[in-house]
Amino acid sequence: MDSFASFLLVFSLLFSLLANGNYDVPFQQNYNPLWGYDHTKVLDESREIQLTLDQYSGSGFQSWQKYGSGWFNMRIKTPQKDSTAVITTFYLQSDAQGHRDEIDFEFLGGNGSKDHPYLLQTNIYTNGRGGREQGIFLWFDPTADFHDYTILWNHYQTVFFVDRIPIRVFKNATKYGGAYPTKAMNIFATIWTGTWASHGMPVNWTDAPFEAHYRGFDITACNTHDNNEQDCLSNSKFWWNQKQYWSLNSDQQEAYENVRSKYLYYDYCTKPNYPECKYNQ
Ligand SMILES: *[C@@H]1O[C@H](CO)[C@@H](O)[C@H](O)[C@H]1NC(C)=O
Ligand SMILES: *[C@@H]1O[C@H](CO)[C@@H](O)[C@H](O)[C@H]1NC(C)=O
Ligand SMILES: *[C@@H]1O[C@H](CO)[C@@H](O)[C@H](O)[C@H]1NC(C)=O
Repeated sequence: MDSFASFLLVFSLLFSLLANGNYDVPFQQNYNPLWGYDHTKVLDESREIQLTLDQYSGSGFQSWQKYGSGWFNMRIKTPQKDSTAVITTFYLQSDAQGHRDEIDFEFLGGNGSKDHPYLLQTNIYTNGRGGREQGIFLWFDPTADFHDYTILWNHYQTVFFVDRIPIRVFKNATKYGGAYPTKAMNIFATIWTGTWASHGMPVNWTDAPFEAHYRGFDITACNTHDNNEQDCLSNSKFWWNQKQYWSLNSDQQEAYENVRSKYLYYDYCTKPNYPECKYNQ
């Protein structure tokens, strides 16, 4: 392990002690299967879900409720073996396909070799417009164990974390002409295929089925069933809206810059016409 990898390890151990969350909440309390029911397996007294993909079907689950802000965390272990063109996801998405808001984690499968490692892609849609992909390599093997993947979404910023380490920041830059997700969203997790994720290389079905594992079904977020959407932005009601979550602190900023300098693979900000980019560095 090089010194930067050990720095990340210490950083994430430190923050995992602060991590709130009750990993014993049963799946059914907050989520239900979405599609591919017979490809969804409930394990460990509903504390773990296995989503399966084979030649016949993928599968997915979604939250019962919609949310207007929050700290959305999921523990995920991605499929092993050669998972070229296999896509494992954890994301937030609003209704109204054509005008949807969406905040995505997408694991693009690798085949275990150095030339074709797993990639973690993130993306954001606002009012139906996406194209904001960023891709990073991970500093660990995501198929070997569970890791925490988190989306912080409040009034001020959307931050993607891997084991509490910020890997992407998307500021609310609406007053400078940027767009920002505003609509109430459900939480989703899916496994499916797409050769867009593998430069056209097909899925290797010799290794099927592919199994993604999810844990941590508590939800630390403002649901829009019990709260109106304006209340979801309240600083006094919800800790993730408070001032210390309006921007990264200096330790987080340092970790974020290190990740970007060492592990960033591509960034949509090299394309024109995304005015928010200059506020997200
Ligand atoms: C993995 O993919 C890379 C890139 O396409 C290829 O060169 C390599 O042979 C593959 N390795 C295995 C074990 O399939
Ligand atoms: C984004 O910031 C603007 C002010 O710059 C504010 O009016 C708006 O409510 C914020 N959007 C969200 C979704 O919080
Ligand atoms: C598909 O996976 C099998 C079993 O791991 C392997 O032997 C084979 O080389 C793979 N095919 C390709 C095209 O990578």
